[in-house]
Amino acid sequence: MKVVAGSASLGLGRELGRVLKASVVDVAFEKHPGGFPDGEKYVRLLDPVRGEHVVLVQSTHPADKLVELFLLQDAIAEEGAKKVSLVIPYFGYGRQDKRFESGEPVSARAIARRLQVQADDVLTVSGHDPRILTFFDIPARDVSGIPALARHFEGQAMDLVLAPDDNAERFARELGERLGLEWDFLEKKRIDSFTVQVTPKELDAKGRNVVIVDDVISTGTTIATAAKLLREQGTKRVVAACVHGVFAANALQRLQACDEVVATDTLLSPATKVSVAPEIAAAL
Ligand code: R5P
Repeated sequence: MKVVAGSASLGLGRELGRVLKASVVDVAFEKHPGGFPDGEKYVRLLDPVRGEHVVLVQSTHPADKLVELFLLQDAIAEEGAKKVSLVIPYFGYGRQDKRFESGEPVSARAIARRLQVQADDVLTVSGHDPRILTFFDIPARDVSGIPALARHFEGQAMDLVLAPDDNAERFARELGERLGLEWDFLEKKRIDSFTVQVTPKELDAKGRNVVIVDDVISTGTTIATAAKLLREQGTKRVVAACVHGVFAANALQRLQACDEVVATDTLLSPATKVSVAPEIAAAL
């Protein structure tokens, strides 16, 4: 088994190689220093993969990482790998997993259909909805990134785990159960990308240490709004936790409303504090 990591997942790829005791293939991402002047992507495998079971790891965000992934898949096929297990730590476009309005695509399905062309099986991490797996015609599984977050909080004096909305309830339940903590969820209504309404709820949050957990933090609006509400209720410490830290549009600044922000390494950011490599390795 050999690991090939795209440029969105180099750290996780290295960690996965270490956990799996598999070598990590050296990849060049530029043909010339500075890359192509027009911004097109380039990859070249610098180690052989002929006859190997290749674990190809790449998050598909931002979108040019998706192009890079297509190129890596093709290079691996050209070099004669025996089998390709595609690991997509963060499945970009996963939130458009249905047509919300007429005229829209099912973006997650459009991407899944193309990725499966040069893969034997696929593994996602805390995919936005289990429905995404059904878009693949090859064996597809999802592993949870919540156990990795739980490792971060072990030994910390947290009191309550909260989801910012009912969609994230399952993440709060899983984290709460792993840490042996009480868990609950808030009611959220999204107005637009930067505005959400979180309904105040009777919570025993005063003077307590609270983790707010979601699968994805994008603009940080959801969690920052929930954190503000908790502050008003006299919460002592508010920690924001997510599997996928997209952190778009100055999200980390918005999240200064929290005492700490924690994310896994499905995407690299200043908040990356834990790795999902053990979960991926166990599933492989
Ligand atoms: C939504 O369905 C996701 O689970 C997150 O709640 C959402 O992506 C968070 O977005 P933002 O950080 O922009 O509020």
